[in-house]
Amino acid sequence: MLIFAVESSCDETAVALYKSGVLAHKVYSQFVIHQKYKGVVPELAARSHIEKLIPLTEECLQEAEVSKKAIDAVAYTMGPGLIPCLMAGAAYARSLAYGLEVPALGIHHLESHILSPLLSDDKPSFPYVTLLVSGGHTQLYEVLDYGDYRLHGQTRDDAAGEAFDKTAVLLGLSYPGGAELEKLAKKGDHSRFSSKHKLTMPMANSGDYDFSFSGIKTQVRYLAAKLDLQNDREVADLAAAFQHTITKGLTDKTLALAQEKGIKNIAIVGGVSANRYFRDMAKAKSSSRGMKVYFAPLEYATDNAAMVALTASYRLSKGQKDNLIIQAKPRLGIPA
Ligand SMILES: Nc1ncnc2c1ncn2[C@@H]1O[C@H](COP(=O)(O)OP(=O)(O)OP(=O)(O)O)[C@@H](O)[C@H]1O
Ligand SMILES: [Mg+2]
Repeated sequence: MLIFAVESSCDETAVALYKSGVLAHKVYSQFVIHQKYKGVVPELAARSHIEKLIPLTEECLQEAEVSKKAIDAVAYTMGPGLIPCLMAGAAYARSLAYGLEVPALGIHHLESHILSPLLSDDKPSFPYVTLLVSGGHTQLYEVLDYGDYRLHGQTRDDAAGEAFDKTAVLLGLSYPGGAELEKLAKKGDHSRFSSKHKLTMPMANSGDYDFSFSGIKTQVRYLAAKLDLQNDREVADLAAAFQHTITKGLTDKTLALAQEKGIKNIAIVGGVSANRYFRDMAKAKSSSRGMKVYFAPLEYATDNAAMVALTASYRLSKGQKDNLIIQAKPRLGIPA
């Protein structure tokens, strides 16, 4: 079955063609549009989605060398996400399916992230523990099978990616800050600020699987106020300490859940999983406990439509499809 998928939940416009594997996929990242606001402006994002969806679709079809008429089903992200952005992608995808007289299916964005490591050649088998760390979410799931997800913990305030983005702004970096902060941290030494009584991971010893990130941003703000931000060395040390503290805190709770459940496979998904320092730390800590950590291929860590198509392939195989409706929901519980 040839599936065409659309992702437009935030500030990436993405499409993919999928048939037992990814045939082609395209992502347009809107960061230049939002950079000057240091955050995503939903209406501007939605207008850009509308402009880009048709040309990206054409490029994707050309690259895969298939005709639009060969598409058997259309999938799209129905939520959670920014409502004008979801509406743009959902209306486009639903209309395309209607015109082609094929089924359409709305897909849960977080389920797409959770299943994204299955796009990798080296993929986890069920069950696996997933840490989902993106721009809007930080959650820990036990993934027992397709459609069988148990949520064990989540952030009580900011998402991990959001903490990276906001801290990057505090340190004078440009938006979006996660990747920029990682680059700067490479030049720094984390030990100067990550030792006791300096930068500490909130809720590290809370006895549950929840997270919190708002406090660590405040810690960075106080430390930064005492620093000379023109001194590249000092800023790089602080960036390295922030990255180390957060990624260690995330890794420790993920492995603790896997240990408690007796699960050997770990997956780390979402935009923050693109962080190389995080990947290396999680790999080292997992293997020292006899566990193995899996990731989506780097190009599928941040928002993309390949993961939407993969999720749709499983749901369509169960006979699921939507009626003639357009689904767009800003908040949405994980599906069973
Ligand atoms: N190398 C990196 N290090 C740390 N964070 C990163 C890196 N690359 C990307 N990020 C962060 O990933 C986030 C974007 O990830 P993603 O596209 O999965 O999230 P989103 O779709 O905006 O949110 P959600 O999936 O929760 O709706 C941003 O916060 C960004 O800063
Ligand atoms: Mg996302």
